Amino acid sequence: MIDIQHLRKTQAHILCIGSHPAIIQSMLDFDFLSGKKEPSVKVIIAGRKKFERFFYGKKQILIPVFASSEKVPHAIKKDITLFFNTTSARRTKVSSIEALTGFPNMFGGTVFAEDVPEQHSLELFAFAQKHKKFIVGPASVGLLMPGSFKLGAIGGTDYRQLLASHVTTSGNVAVFSASGGMVGEIIRIVSDQGKRLSFALSFGGDRFPVMTPKEAFLAAQNDPQTHTILYYGELGGTDEYELVSLLESKQITKQVICYIAGTVSDLFETPPQFGHAKAIANTKGESAREKRDALKKAGAMVGETFLDFVEYIKQIDQSGISDSVDEEGVATLSDRKQTLITSTISGDIHGDATILGEPLLHFANTHSFAAIVASMFLGKKTISKEFETFVDFVLRLLVDHGPYVSGAMNTIVTARAGRDLVSSLSSGLLTIGPRFGGAINQAAANWLTGVEEKESAHDFVESFAKKKTYISGIGHRKYRVDLPDPRVAALLEFINKLEKKRFTTFALSIQKVTAAKKGNLILNVDGAIAAILLDYLSEEEGFSDEQLRELTEREFFNALFVLSRSVGFISHFLDQKRLDEGIFRLPEELATQLDPDSIA
Ligand code: ACO
Ligand code: LMR
Repeated sequence: MIDIQHLRKTQAHILCIGSHPAIIQSMLDFDFLSGKKEPSVKVIIAGRKKFERFFYGKKQILIPVFASSEKVPHAIKKDITLFFNTTSARRTKVSSIEALTGFPNMFGGTVFAEDVPEQHSLELFAFAQKHKKFIVGPASVGLLMPGSFKLGAIGGTDYRQLLASHVTTSGNVAVFSASGGMVGEIIRIVSDQGKRLSFALSFGGDRFPVMTPKEAFLAAQNDPQTHTILYYGELGGTDEYELVSLLESKQITKQVICYIAGTVSDLFETPPQFGHAKAIANTKGESAREKRDALKKAGAMVGETFLDFVEYIKQIDQSGISDSVDEEGVATLSDRKQTLITSTISGDIHGDATILGEPLLHFANTHSFAAIVASMFLGKKTISKEFETFVDFVLRLLVDHGPYVSGAMNTIVTARAGRDLVSSLSSGLLTIGPRFGGAINQAAANWLTGVEEKESAHDFVESFAKKKTYISGIGHRKYRVDLPDPRVAALLEFINKLEKKRFTTFALSIQKVTAAKKGNLILNVDGAIAAILLDYLSEEEGFSDEQLRELTEREFFNALFVLSRSVGFISHFLDQKRLDEGIFRLPEELATQLDPDSIA
């Protein structure tokens, strides 16, 4: 059931299921032109992207995109109240029900797709009735409530159409039609006659619309702001006889002005099918003529011609309406140009560089290097001093691990080959990967999965053994149970400052199983840093597990090693330039030559 007054009082936070950029932009323009400080569209469920870029006024904004309802973080989910569904006809039912059940404060939404299987529409109707939600559609251009929200293409998809129809000014005329085109036409007629909307919707032209005219009329009757109901009906179906009953039983007492299209059908020998699935008069009672007569008899004002209908609209009593449009704001909409890149890390405002919104010099003067690194890598300012201290230690600890390590060797060899700083640094950086330095990210993903799935350490280790896959964060070429890595012990000291230690506890439980198998399968520095970072981000920086997973997907956890070890690589380059020992050539006795057939 739809409660217009409640919707009007509730801040609209909209979930878009599927991405229709032009319609979504029109919804945002409606918000902007309505003077809202915040856009109503909060999240999009669509394919591979992480964000979609739109204008809010002239400013560009990013709206987060998730692959499915489940992946939408609770922090966003809890505020969503409405949905706008543009998925395909066959996906409409499932995706709409997911929206109605997966978002705790969802009231309802609109469905754009045409030709939704009739059985699906009937199931959606039953679901909406049972769970007291509302769905406008299928095949609907949407629901519009001036001052509150625009849910769909209704009212127009270009901001100039919104302005011309004055849909951002609240009034007291409700407009209903099965036809999306006609609801737009009538909204414009209402506006041209100096009247303004209380709300408007199109039922959609499918045979079984989830929201029926009866429900919409009762909603208008219960909406104190609505004084007049405009209804553009068509031949076919019997909905109008329910409206007749509502009028006769005085359940509808407000002014009702109707036009029922399709009298031309009476001129045909056999009933013609018009555009909408429902638009065919198979019986006399379904004809436009019969419906008009019944509505008129019940007290509605029924236009014999469309001009009559417009004349009745002209006569609607609606005083005291004042259109308040921010002309300056409107002017900014005319020359919007999509930029080619987006940065949320830094900006350049009138020639002054900013980092995370702060002027560069102020940022550099007021934050430690570790805090700057962590904040920029995370894309938001850190809050915990303990976390900052840990990051500072990691950055200092990882700068180097001796000249024998693969990455250092590559930098040294490249420098001695006469290459420049960047080439020699790149050679070392290109060594970082799944076995050396680049295992932190995968280790974090593994620890996250293990903790989320509550796997036993044994099952976790066995699952990797079955896949014949090394466990990232476990194992070392030099260190063993009886020769522990002193760095790991130093890192683990930090975990004592935390309470839950979910991820470090899990990582240590894995080490217990693997080290019992082979002495070199200890928790290595990558695995330890991954676990402790997860625990700090979770307990000190307030990251949800979903957000931590997202950090692994953008390789945040490897970033600290890359930055820190670059210090070592650059130092090795400078050292080699100083030593200048000439090109490196591996002594023959240190290389093994085998007959190719010997390892066939
Ligand atoms: N998970 C499961 N089994 C392992 C692992 C692992 N991570 N690492 C080694 N093993 C096993 C191997 O399967 C092998 O068993 P087998 O003899 O039955 O075949 C045995 O241990 C020795 O394997 P090697 O590859 O010879 O071990 P090595 O000492 O060369 O490997 C390395 C060291 C590269 C670090 C390896 O342990 C590994 O790849 N670990 C995962 C990646 C990782 O964490 N790297 C970060 C290291 S720390 C740093 O780079 C700063
Ligand atoms: C490192 O930090 O480089 C090491 O753990 C790797 C190694 O081989 O020592």
